[in-house]
Amino acid sequence: MAGRIPQHFIDDLISRIDIVELIDARVPLRKTGRDYTARCPFHEEKSPSFTVSPTKQFYHCFGCQAHGTAISFLMEYEHLDFVEAVHELAAKAGLDVPSEGPELAPTAPNTPLYELLEQAARLYRDQLRQHPAAVDYLKQRGLTGAIAAEFAIGYAPPGWDTALQTLGNSAERQQQLLTAGLLIKKDQGGYYDRFRNRIMFPIRDRRGRVIGFGGRVLDKDGTPKYLNSPETPIFHKGQELYGLFEAQQALRRLDRILVVEGYMDVVALAQHGIRYAVATLGTATSTEHVERLFRAAPEVIFCFDGDRAGREAAWRAVEHTLPALREGRQARVMFLPEGDDPDSLVRREGREHFEQGTAQSIPISTFFYEGLLKQTDISSMEGRARLVELARPMLSKLSAGVLRHMMITKLAELARIDGNSLDRMLAGKSTPSETRATAARPASRGNLSPLRLGISLLLHAPGLASRTGDVQRWKDLNLRGIDLWISVIDFLQAHPHSTGSAMLEHWRNTPQQQILTELALGNLAIPAEGFEAEFMGIVQWLDSQLREQRWAYLHDKCQRETLSGEEKREFLAFGEPSPKPPH
Ligand code: UTP
Ligand code: MN
Repeated sequence: MAGRIPQHFIDDLISRIDIVELIDARVPLRKTGRDYTARCPFHEEKSPSFTVSPTKQFYHCFGCQAHGTAISFLMEYEHLDFVEAVHELAAKAGLDVPSEGPELAPTAPNTPLYELLEQAARLYRDQLRQHPAAVDYLKQRGLTGAIAAEFAIGYAPPGWDTALQTLGNSAERQQQLLTAGLLIKKDQGGYYDRFRNRIMFPIRDRRGRVIGFGGRVLDKDGTPKYLNSPETPIFHKGQELYGLFEAQQALRRLDRILVVEGYMDVVALAQHGIRYAVATLGTATSTEHVERLFRAAPEVIFCFDGDRAGREAAWRAVEHTLPALREGRQARVMFLPEGDDPDSLVRREGREHFEQGTAQSIPISTFFYEGLLKQTDISSMEGRARLVELARPMLSKLSAGVLRHMMITKLAELARIDGNSLDRMLAGKSTPSETRATAARPASRGNLSPLRLGISLLLHAPGLASRTGDVQRWKDLNLRGIDLWISVIDFLQAHPHSTGSAMLEHWRNTPQQQILTELALGNLAIPAEGFEAEFMGIVQWLDSQLREQRWAYLHDKCQRETLSGEEKREFLAFGEPSPKPPH
């Protein structure tokens, strides 16, 4: 893994990029009032609900809820991961991306590995042509030369040293072949080929570079049936998807992706014109997979065997998928007839029949509740309570939005409880201590507490942070959210030209990300001219809370023991009327 990108660099980068310019170059924007709008690039729509705020440096689609910073936009729009998006923005801003951490290796040291794997793929393709038995095998499995070529399928012959002899002509190259996973080291010294007498499926990354192989035995009793490259510096099984590059090459834009289990399933489906299938590499579907899938297409259909193991695998996929769901993203599960895999089914029944099956797949939300209902008897009160407990860990992973609301409404219906109280229960919002505060609170807006309102104001107008004075004075205040409030202001005071999006990037992948995002998305029912007065009202309220807390402490103490002279003076100085009557 490349070294971590230091946070200060990201803070700086975000402040140099104009999100309006960045997006406008890809999706032409129109100015409407304070913001810019366009038809949303992330879902189909007739009228524009995609909004870009130049002040917050933030985009938000009111239709599909897509939202985020310049980095998020590039990740979504160009199907990049975080590091790639940062690199692209940095290049645009003319900056070099520094890295920190023990492994500073940028991509350069891996270049020989990519080259070697490319050469190996070519070697295996040549070998395929020279081995009619291997070609016959592919033909017998229904593949044409054209599809085999598209997937660059090859053949590793039976010898022990084909790759070693052809590609390993120096000690250094042999070492690289070992690192690339193509050779295995002998106990007594020397190397031998990992892949022998196998049909070779090159695994390519998003840019089409070969990063590993899957090899299938030719003879029926060979084991293991499939042998995969081991983990290497460039091959991470838990993240890669076989066939994604090929699918993106075949179809410019993917409307949906079908996730299947095997290499042969992907290739056979492509052979029958279903070009949007990908496979995980002998591992369960991970969160990284799901993110990658949704970056490539708005709809993901997981295809499983109809048996018990298939249902269990589906359940695990649901766990990893729910957190990634939101409006505009759909996930479904499809179960195959017992005894079939996608390869056998599409070969027997053809494309049309297979696609009818995908059309009958079940939304994962439905699958989720069906699964829970099988485990509980909701005719009893205990059963309904258990249902809520079973659902809770999964639902708490959903991000706020229409989908979460719908899932909770559904659960409330099944459990026969009130939706709002269920929502509060799941969010763990019991009775926060701050509701005990009795001093005049600044007018809360909607359900925003003063601190949340304050942070929300800062997201809109970060410059206000310079008006608070020293924030550390509030650090002992007994208020929920005071830590975030202090660190947000600290951050803005240290980075005076930051925008809301810099704040979101600073807290990316932290527990505070969610709340900051919610606040950034929310619209303040206050005109911009009123921001400052509102904000200073909150600052004054906090100071009054501070005095009140101090008064209560001294008051409490003087009931138990004698105050020091200093404390007595301080207490008396509160004067009459006290900020909070003692009774
Ligand atoms: P299957 O055993 O279902 O094979 O493995 P398949 O895809 O139907 O293969 P064919 O049709 O017999 O050629 C499904 C997937 O599980 C992984 C591979 O990724 C395979 O494509 N697998 C399976 C392994 O990694 N190793 C194995 O030994 C078997
Ligand atoms: Mn099969």
